[in-house]
Amino acid sequence: MDRITLSQYRRILFFTGAGMSAESGVPTYRGKGGVWKEYDYEEYACQKAFDRNPEKVLRFHELRRQAVLDCLPHEGHRVIAGIPGVKVITQNIDGMHQRAGSEGVIELHGTLWRLRCDRCRTVVEDHGKSYETLKCACGAWLRPDIIWFGDMLDPVVVRKAKRSVEECDLFISIGTSGTVWPAAGFPALAREWGAYCIEINPEPSGGREYHRTIAGNAGAVLPELFIF
Ligand code: OAD
Repeated sequence: MDRITLSQYRRILFFTGAGMSAESGVPTYRGKGGVWKEYDYEEYACQKAFDRNPEKVLRFHELRRQAVLDCLPHEGHRVIAGIPGVKVITQNIDGMHQRAGSEGVIELHGTLWRLRCDRCRTVVEDHGKSYETLKCACGAWLRPDIIWFGDMLDPVVVRKAKRSVEECDLFISIGTSGTVWPAAGFPALAREWGAYCIEINPEPSGGREYHRTIAGNAGAVLPELFIF
């Protein structure tokens, strides 16, 4: 494999999706074994479902938390965390990058480890397998602070992410099907702003925005790819 000398780049950005966590044992969303193959998002991952039956939606997310806590970050997560000054934008809600030691991770789609009250705007960090509480002190149901189908992304988070994409000179996309917007537009944005763009995926999109495509699994490719 052609290796990348990291000292050639000043601003390195990883952009990750569910495939980044696949080798940790966290299921992806689409394809074989995908979350949306097993569960109907209209029942578990949209505001309407939550309004209809908050407890059912919260229990689904609690199961996902338990499954994620039973998984561990892999060597690929650790390689990313070990690159000085690196930035990470992830679509993942599982917190695996942080568990591997990455700091300042931009979580585009929110996180399983935070809840919010849409009535009084309280935000609660909650990291256990089970939720400490399902209700806010004001009496309303707490909602997972995750971007569900039909939700708008937080404009502050999107702005911050776009700025990082525009500033980077090496953009490495890993494990995303590129189907969910606005995240799906980030590789093209990076290329437009002059970054060298790489895709790592066992089933690469083959998108023209990439200068280089590496067909392989994140956990196998990342430990071999860089010269520090
Ligand atoms: P997808 O499930 O759509 O795509 C996963 C991608 O990972 C596919 O392209 C796989 O080929 C690839 N893949 C699988 N195993 C891999 C491995 N070991 N190494 C590298 N790549 C691998 O997941 P996302 O693109 O992340 O939204 O999905 C985007 C969003 O859709 C998610 O953030 C989620 C979902 O609805 C929310 O939760 C809001």
